[in-house]
Amino acid sequence: MAIGVFDSGVGGLTVLRALRAALPDRDFVYLGDTARLPYGTKSAASVVRYAGQAADALVARGLSCLVIACNTASAVALPALRARYAPLPVLGVLEPGAAAACAVTRSGRIAVLATEGTVRAGAYERAIRALRADATVTAAACPLFVALAEEGWTGGQVVELVAQRYLEPLLTARPAPDVLLLGCTHFPVLAGAIAQVAGAGLTIVDSAATTARAVCGILGVADGRAHGRGTLRLLATDDVGRFARVGATFLREPIDPAAVELIDLAG
Ligand code: DGL
Repeated sequence: MAIGVFDSGVGGLTVLRALRAALPDRDFVYLGDTARLPYGTKSAASVVRYAGQAADALVARGLSCLVIACNTASAVALPALRARYAPLPVLGVLEPGAAAACAVTRSGRIAVLATEGTVRAGAYERAIRALRADATVTAAACPLFVALAEEGWTGGQVVELVAQRYLEPLLTARPAPDVLLLGCTHFPVLAGAIAQVAGAGLTIVDSAATTARAVCGILGVADGRAHGRGTLRLLATDDVGRFARVGATFLREPIDPAAVELIDLAG
């Protein structure tokens, strides 16, 4: 059975990439709910409903594990999805992201960049403090980063100006954070520009690699030890051409639009 991966759009392909690298012989089915992106600016109630419909569509195909590769959906819908599909393992990206940040911070001061919905839910604060009770977590909503990444503007003057604006309060906070956690699927493709603005004192982490390790743990397989090539099915809820074009930046490999299946999620 395949590993199901779900995101509001193409951003979760950064997580899928890490998953496929760690589990090359596994089959994957990825669903991007592009018709309803962004989730990050929507109410928790809407995101819970959208995530439930998307997860239903994936689970109906028969899965060994479901990965919610969307920080916003992980922040507000994970407990409901876990309860709905038990005993199917359902994994979000917040706990792995928190683990990645806690593994590298020395001071325990962690800054999180995320969507409005994730910041509002306070989910990263909880996940980080569950691992390190004395951590100080500051979070900033960076909605324009999603639009820039979708546009393929992953670096340059405009991205750096936006990053400066978003990062300024975090960078001038005293005591300063030593880790910057990219708590949104879209942000890893902007990591170069964000690092440029953040400077050398901040270590930038995201949840892709730690999520892949967590899935390996759940499935009881050693990271990257397998051989062979598993299959990949891509599903989107809107314009497969755009999904393929924009998604290629996130997956870091070309996507054939003809190989992307358009599906409709009721409601
Ligand atoms: N996938 C979302 C997240 O990781 C970002 C894009 C959106 O707002 O839907 O939070």
